[in-house]
Amino acid sequence: MKKRELSLFKAPQIAESFTEHQAIVLHLGDAYEFLQTIPSDTATLIITSPPYNIGKEYEKRVRIDSYLTQQEPVIEELIRVLRDDGSICWQVGNFVENSEVFPLDIYYYCMFKKKGLRLRNRIIWYFGHGLHASKRFSGRYETVLWFTKGDKYVFNLDPVRVPSKYPGKRHFKGPNIGQPSGNPLGKNPSDIWEFVAQEWDKELWNIPNVKANHPEKTIHPCQYPIELVERCVLAFTNEGDWVLDPYSGVGSTLIAGLKHNRNVIGCDKETAYVEIAKKRIVDFYSGDLKIRPIGKAVYVPTGREKISQVPDEWNKNNKKERQ
Ligand SMILES: C[S@@+](CC[C@H](N)C(=O)[O-])C[C@H]1O[C@@H](n2cnc3c(N)ncnc32)[C@H](O)[C@@H]1O
Repeated sequence: MKKRELSLFKAPQIAESFTEHQAIVLHLGDAYEFLQTIPSDTATLIITSPPYNIGKEYEKRVRIDSYLTQQEPVIEELIRVLRDDGSICWQVGNFVENSEVFPLDIYYYCMFKKKGLRLRNRIIWYFGHGLHASKRFSGRYETVLWFTKGDKYVFNLDPVRVPSKYPGKRHFKGPNIGQPSGNPLGKNPSDIWEFVAQEWDKELWNIPNVKANHPEKTIHPCQYPIELVERCVLAFTNEGDWVLDPYSGVGSTLIAGLKHNRNVIGCDKETAYVEIAKKRIVDFYSGDLKIRPIGKAVYVPTGREKISQVPDEWNKNNKKERQ
């Protein structure tokens, strides 16, 4: 929405505890305790990036089995709060100990499955940049496990279709021969999603001549892009539904939901993040929040930038080796 259109709306109030009469609930406190105050069958979408137990400033690193045991009661509460036609999107990466990788989605899949949820997609969130490993291949994706509570669930494909690569393709045989074979609204976005990640933002800071940095970046060390949530909000909910994030950080989920006229519930235990989330919501309604537009192409170097050219030293070495 443009700033002018947005400013026509008055920012609604942000409630601290759940009430179905307020469109925005943002609670400062512990997720498990807060979830107990929400009625059953409320949320159509629960989407979150839980703490990964990797020693970030907001978490105490514990053994993987203790971490998962701590998460289990939270997940039970989330399933209670989820509507029968609702979805849970659980966005995780890896826990790493002594250079051994523990893919969290594998552990979480078993936990959700045991509690009766059904996996619809294991979405790969791919990003082209990140930390460089030296004793294994560098990790360049995380996953979003999309579960539903039942077999009847909200799924709107049309609002999240993406432009097709070959829209001019036609049926070459059969009754529709000669007719366009694709969908005019675009193609299914598939289960591999490419969105700009945090690490990429950091690299952008270091690239001379590239003025842009990710517009959504705050002080949070593990923020996910609003765009990633938007796709889930559009596909798995309808206007007026409740979207819940029990670990809402700086409010990326809440903004994605509000942008598409959903009601939102968030919770985080860190005062600083909750305060930033509130400010981002206010800025969103005044039109001052910078959001990376949904569907904006990921930056591809043209080859003319200094940073995308092979360093001269390497060229010299190559020449010597060839001699
Ligand atoms: C991976 S971050 C989520 C970031 C969020 N997706 C965003 O874009 O801002 C996990 C969040 O969980 C919060 N957290 C950790 N343990 C918590 C708990 N027991 N209750 C509530 N929040 C918690 C942390 O403060 C952190 O902000």
